[in-house]
Amino acid sequence: MNQLLLGDNLEIMKKMENEIFDLIYLDPPFFTGKNQELIWGEAQELRSYKDRWAGGIMNFIEWLKPRVEQMHRLLKPTGAIFLHCDYHANSYIRCFILDKIFGANNFRNEIVWKRTSAKSNASKKLPVLKDSIFYYTKTDEYTYYSIFTEHSEKYKKAIYCHENGKGFYSSSNLTAPTNKPKNEEWKGYNPASRGRSWGIPREIVIELVGEEKAKKMSYSEKLDLLYENNLIEFTKNGVPRLKLFLNPSKGVMLGDWWDDISNVTTHAKERIGYPTQKPEKLLERIISCASNEGDFVLDPFLGSGTTVCVADKLNRNWVGIDELATAISVSEMRLQKQADILQKPFVKVLHKYDYETVRNSDAFDFEGFAVRMFGGIENLKKRGDKGVDGKTKDGIPIQVKRQDSIGREYADNFHAAIIRNDRNLYEKNRETGKPVGFLIAFSFGKGLIEEIARLKSVDNVIIELIRVDSFIPFAKKPSLKLEILSFETDKSGLTEISFKAEGVADENKKIEFYAWDFSFEEKFSADIYIDKDGLQKYKFTKGIHKIAAKVVDNDGLETLETITLHINGGVNLEK
Ligand SMILES: C[S@@+](CC[C@H](N)C(=O)[O-])C[C@H]1O[C@@H](n2cnc3c(N)ncnc32)[C@H](O)[C@@H]1O
Repeated sequence: MNQLLLGDNLEIMKKMENEIFDLIYLDPPFFTGKNQELIWGEAQELRSYKDRWAGGIMNFIEWLKPRVEQMHRLLKPTGAIFLHCDYHANSYIRCFILDKIFGANNFRNEIVWKRTSAKSNASKKLPVLKDSIFYYTKTDEYTYYSIFTEHSEKYKKAIYCHENGKGFYSSSNLTAPTNKPKNEEWKGYNPASRGRSWGIPREIVIELVGEEKAKKMSYSEKLDLLYENNLIEFTKNGVPRLKLFLNPSKGVMLGDWWDDISNVTTHAKERIGYPTQKPEKLLERIISCASNEGDFVLDPFLGSGTTVCVADKLNRNWVGIDELATAISVSEMRLQKQADILQKPFVKVLHKYDYETVRNSDAFDFEGFAVRMFGGIENLKKRGDKGVDGKTKDGIPIQVKRQDSIGREYADNFHAAIIRNDRNLYEKNRETGKPVGFLIAFSFGKGLIEEIARLKSVDNVIIELIRVDSFIPFAKKPSLKLEILSFETDKSGLTEISFKAEGVADENKKIEFYAWDFSFEEKFSADIYIDKDGLQKYKFTKGIHKIAAKVVDNDGLETLETITLHINGGVNLEK
């Protein structure tokens, strides 16, 4: 199931099974030697997250290496990893981590992402415009799709300058330099005569006959194929050259130099205010290049959730991990905002949960949540679950009840459901003294406890009783007060309102941030994702408007408050 997980990625990854992911993208804190800083709110306060490594670069490498070792273990044999870094640590990461863990032979590319342009330069050196993204695979057999970008007019004119009546085409060399020229003649031309070998583009051959067949073809079979498809011409000296016709829909093949994706600038539409947020286009490119629909993508340094949002849009399954509650909450809000009816449900796993929210959630949601938190697999059938809300990994039935002090009849019903579910498994577990089922509730009544004890002593049937609070840690969510500070209507009739949201965290906790939805309907859809101060101004037209604010604490627990405004010259509040 798609998951947002709060915690240290090393600990979380250690608990995962081998070889489950097809693609891993990671954008760890860089070894920048300073804190990542952003200026928040009107007070221009400096906020930061840790990106400072006391003790130097090798401490950073020692910190990152075991995490990449886990990622290697988690990747399928056909999988790939993209590690995003910059000049501070890129050489160290490549030599001391990636080459060591993945092997230098599995290095595929160092992608250079030109993320900014030189404007002015404060220091006495060349401005830094790029990041590095290392692309490694686990083995030689991996998923890979070439990337094409749009032709620029200049490029078209310069490259597709030949014409043969059927259209414009480029003419390029079909040979490549080599240390060991082989005698491989084709139609009277042997590249070895010039110390070269054949250099036949695999892409084009694959496009014509498919990957499997292409792998088995000899050089002369490939050349024959291109020739038959009118893709080879000869110079007057008899040298064959590749003819590539302009294909505007496909564009031009992209290499390891990416200069066409701009960073998430202050005014970018997708910007949500998380320091180091990466552009969606960058992730779109990586995910489409190295995975298929339905594949599993992991981002263990999730940040604002760019990877999982793009993976979701591209119909990939995903898991995102971050140690900051802010990152998990913001990612959840981004996913909710882009959600359409086809979005698969996802789980958010925090360290603590609010008791009232859990207790009062929809019965079906609660059952699923409890099963997952217990480590089981939920039954997705809303109706007709026949008393089995989920199963453990060994197939043992789990039933969840939202009540307190459940009575004896629940034992009888669940016992019957367990037998109905799989009689053989029931008998086997009974004979070997294993639990036949797990019954989860907030608390259990005397009659039920006695019946469970009787089943065990008389029939050797073990049904384990599990209290919800024994495996779901509860905490109190923050409180939230929402008020209007002032308003003013301008000449055009728009009314600007200043809002204040004031959250109070429970003991020993702190407020992380606020988020706002200025046209709230049924579900929260953030207009402002990260507001550290709880102060907002927004302009409204005449009419009725519903506004929602959320406050999130450092456990990721949140509270939502709404107000309804009637704006018509003045502003009236409807609570
Ligand atoms: C550079 S940011 C990622 C930005 C992200 N690519 C995006 O587009 O928003 C790095 C993230 O890694 C998280 N992080 C750092 N150390 C971590 C750890 N040990 N476990 C989990 N997350 C961690 C930080 O909290 C931060 O959100």
